[in-house]
Amino acid sequence: MSDADAEAAGSDETALAFEQTIPEDAVLAVEDVESGYGGLQVLYDVSMFVEPEEIVCIIGPNGAGKSTVLKTIFGLLEPWSGTVRVGNREISGRAPEEVVRAGVGYVPQTENVFEPLTVRENLLVGGVAREDAEETIAALRDRFSLLDEKWTAKAANLSGGQRQILALARALVMEPEVLLIDEPSAGLAPSIVEDVLTELRRINELGTAILMIEQNARQGLSVSDRGYVMSQGEVRFVDDADAVLANPKIRELYLGG
Ligand SMILES: Nc1ncnc2c1ncn2[C@@H]1O[C@H](COP(=O)(O)OP(=O)(O)OP(=O)(O)O)[C@@H](O)[C@H]1O
Ligand SMILES: [Mg+2]
Repeated sequence: MSDADAEAAGSDETALAFEQTIPEDAVLAVEDVESGYGGLQVLYDVSMFVEPEEIVCIIGPNGAGKSTVLKTIFGLLEPWSGTVRVGNREISGRAPEEVVRAGVGYVPQTENVFEPLTVRENLLVGGVAREDAEETIAALRDRFSLLDEKWTAKAANLSGGQRQILALARALVMEPEVLLIDEPSAGLAPSIVEDVLTELRRINELGTAILMIEQNARQGLSVSDRGYVMSQGEVRFVDDADAVLANPKIRELYLGG
């Protein structure tokens, strides 16, 4: 196929264009961030923001750098350049415990609960950095019936979906302003994916902003307000989630048609 044909067929990614201005009131703002592992650069000039009350979904192919964005925000990786801000507080390069204190929660994709510990103990561990965690834990137990039902069960004995709810609740013990979630539905049966995403929506409606990565891009976008598309370490597109879902170019390149 000639270049002209490729363009006519719509496979030319340069046809995507977007504008983005980070609003003053963003609860989370990532600006021009570059980062990577050792000498390997993974992120190039990444800018993203989350407004209070938003659910924002990052989609993109394997190896695009999605998880690296969350790790850099949370302080597991130091940005090589650029800034990360929570409200009006700059947290670039801060250690995870400081990032938590600034109001950010993080639920990694795997190993996000302590298997040998019970549900109750997992929540207590989630609250070690807080003196008054007990009240919040009691409220979470009330809110998620699953936690109450499995209160004394070991996390190792929970199903995939139940573990994911526990991992979310564990992050919520710190009452974060914004929650970073890496692929909440990874490895879950399709019916359970819907349950976990519905739970995220409830969490959001109660006042926590969410920045999540979702491999089930259509489902992830369908519960989100806005969507970022990443590829090869760069943000390629951002728009309202509905518009991302409806964009023919994005559908063709990233949503399987
Ligand atoms: N610990 C690490 N050390 C070195 N390179 C890494 C490490 N983790 C990730 N990478 C590399 O960084 C790049 C981006 O990885 P990242 O995990 O951020 O992608 P992703 O978009 O989350 O992909 P996936 O959808 O597979 O989770 C990949 O090339 C990956 O090989
Ligand atoms: Mg990842």
